[in-house]
Amino acid sequence: MAVTILAIESSCDDTSVAVIRDGYVLSNLIANQDIHMSYGGVVPELASRAHQANIVPVTHEAMLKAGIVAEDVNAVAFTRGPGLLGSLLVGTSFAKGFALALNIPLIEVNHLQAHVMAHFILDDAKDNRVPSFPFLCLLVSGGHTRIIVMKSHLEMEVIGNTIDDAAGEAFDKCGKVMGFTYPAGPLIDKLAGEGNKNAFKFAKPYVKGLDFSFSGLKTSFLYFLRDRLKEDSDFIENNLADLCASLQNVITTILIQKLIKAAEQTGIKEIGIAGGVSANSGLRKGMIDEADKKKWNIFIPEFRYTTDNAAMIGITGYYKYLRGEFSGQDVIPLARF
Ligand code: KG4
Ligand code: ZN
Repeated sequence: MAVTILAIESSCDDTSVAVIRDGYVLSNLIANQDIHMSYGGVVPELASRAHQANIVPVTHEAMLKAGIVAEDVNAVAFTRGPGLLGSLLVGTSFAKGFALALNIPLIEVNHLQAHVMAHFILDDAKDNRVPSFPFLCLLVSGGHTRIIVMKSHLEMEVIGNTIDDAAGEAFDKCGKVMGFTYPAGPLIDKLAGEGNKNAFKFAKPYVKGLDFSFSGLKTSFLYFLRDRLKEDSDFIENNLADLCASLQNVITTILIQKLIKAAEQTGIKEIGIAGGVSANSGLRKGMIDEADKKKWNIFIPEFRYTTDNAAMIGITGYYKYLRGEFSGQDVIPLARF
């Protein structure tokens, strides 16, 4: 019998609901929240209120698009964390209510695990090649930068982590300094395409092992601009594309160099990237070039599965369903794991 999972993602500022059947996406809807734009970042209280307003209509739409009714759902998967507590609470409460009303299992999902699991999403509109194990994955999202070894669908080991800011934060914070709204990553990526990546040099931090550090880069970017602005008050506007290209180049170089090191240390050639920053065109291209040189079997997710989406929660929920890993109605969201 087919297994149909309803999946809910509400960890940050996107309300997303997906329907997954036997690993295939039937629908995956995302309601973005524009309300945060004028504040320069996500306002937690506003995010949870917007989730409350969105969750019922988005679920309704996702089921309609998938061509299912509530009784077709075998289990409800939801993001337990990490994320904004108020936002997580909305998705968790909704998932609990749905599961309780239909008397079906409830499945908690770790958002970070789900980003990596996005590589196992099946979708009629894409190439459904999936990694084999062990799989080495660089997870780069707004709040996390990790190198992960996946040993099976649900078994992961973190072998590298950031000691301060995440790569996504480096994009967002440096973007803010240039006057961009949150999230700045996509705009930096777009402008970088028109700039010279070697125009400006920013120091790469030395961090031992497989760990990362991005806070020094943010500070050096800030000081660099402060000094140049003293000489030319229009320095940012006059050099925007080159600044974006140079910044993107240093961030993606740091990421790729560590991933190369991890590949050498582990001997794994099955390699991928995941999370919001994996939408970055410089990182995607850099990974493809490296894979070519190193003969890696490379996995670059489709754009729609890089940033936050419920399909990744659904695919993780599907594998947990097959293993009978269910949660009780007493489960509570966790801001941190
Ligand atoms: O995975 P995600 O959607 O949310 C979290 O779980 O955090 O990642 C969001 C992050 C933000 O920092 C955003 O600036 C970054 O992903 N991002 C990008 C691009 N698209 C999204 N960064 C660089 N280039 C992009 N094209
Ligand atoms: Zn995410």
